[in-house]
Amino acid sequence: MDEKHQAAILLQKGGPLSVGERATPEPGPNEVLIQVKAIALNIVDSFQRDFGMPPVPIYPAVIGSDVAGLVAKVGSNVSNAPPLGSRAIAFASSFYQNGSPDHGAFQKYALAQSEGVIRLPDALSFEEGALFPLAVLTALSAWTTVGIPLDTKYTPQDKQAVLIWGGASSVGTFAVQSAKSMGFTVYTTASPKHHEYLKKLGADVVFDYKTSDVVSQIIDTAKKDGVILRTAHCVVHGSLQPTLDVLKITKGDAVAKVAHSPFPIPEGPTLDGAEIKFNLPPMDPAERNEHMYKCFHLWLQNGLKSGTVVPSPRVQVEAGGLEGLNKALDTLKAGVSGTKIVVQV
Ligand SMILES: NC(=O)c1ccc[n+]([C@@H]2O[C@H](COP(=O)([O-])OP(=O)(O)OC[C@H]3O[C@@H](n4cnc5c(N)ncnc54)[C@H](OP(=O)(O)O)[C@@H]3O)[C@@H](O)[C@H]2O)c1
Repeated sequence: MDEKHQAAILLQKGGPLSVGERATPEPGPNEVLIQVKAIALNIVDSFQRDFGMPPVPIYPAVIGSDVAGLVAKVGSNVSNAPPLGSRAIAFASSFYQNGSPDHGAFQKYALAQSEGVIRLPDALSFEEGALFPLAVLTALSAWTTVGIPLDTKYTPQDKQAVLIWGGASSVGTFAVQSAKSMGFTVYTTASPKHHEYLKKLGADVVFDYKTSDVVSQIIDTAKKDGVILRTAHCVVHGSLQPTLDVLKITKGDAVAKVAHSPFPIPEGPTLDGAEIKFNLPPMDPAERNEHMYKCFHLWLQNGLKSGTVVPSPRVQVEAGGLEGLNKALDTLKAGVSGTKIVVQV
């Protein structure tokens, strides 16, 4: 292996990224070194490039989190990683590694903690493999944020429904898939062109969020279906108020639980009898490692094996490799609809 590799480096707050060389690191005892073949982009990457938020504690920095590639080296204590040379999906982020640039995704070799590294099935491309990491972690963390364990299995008799506002987003598609796997009746919102796709992923009813009576449509459907609707995941900006408008009626006297993925939670919308929590994985490192293991090694790996979890949303490849990342991030900032931007390395 080369002792140096190419990286898209964030030299200072405000960017841009510039391609340069970095020393290729050795994995720590619980880490895996990935030779990166595809990188998927998240809007948080553009916030970090442009505003240094969420905080970037070390410059030069390497940002990004979602990769698929080949296992290049395995740390001495790792027993659960895919074998050397095999294809892998990895959550390679410096965010939970005190900003360590060796761990960011935007480079040809990146370190990842073993809890976030699983085998990439032969049937999936590297580009499809890169779709999963942060979106899966975020979708699954929403459940634990509102106190629902990941091994929850409701039966139809439980009549438990959930509202996922923003189903066509990257996080939303995995919120839908995971809600289905837990046995919820799944209500979600999206533009009409994505309705059939979201039903294939597991949504029971998809509502057009642009119609003026969408709130009453959801309330009426919950009444007709005879379900208990007091759990929600606000995935996208602007979703809290309409979600609370639904829950106000459907929660009855019970406490409603809402996970809110965009930061910050907007000032204003509240509801008596509703707990609204910012969606994040556990902050305690040991708890977070266990949570990541459950998300990647249990839910995702088992779901991929059994075919109950599929890559989503659709891949949108942007050209240019590491050099193309600035432009690809600008394209993401301009907005996507039912796709996730991926760059080949
Ligand atoms: N808390 C965390 O740790 C964490 C981690 C990752 C991401 N996030 C946040 O999660 C959010 C989603 O990220 P993402 O990458 O999944 O987004 P994304 O894929 O970029 O979202 C694009 C989609 O959002 C949908 N959308 C936009 N406004 C909508 C609305 N008012 N109602 C319903 N759908 C709407 C659009 O749906 P249509 O195409 O149907 O119009 C579009 O397909 C972002 O705010 C991000 O910052 C949080």
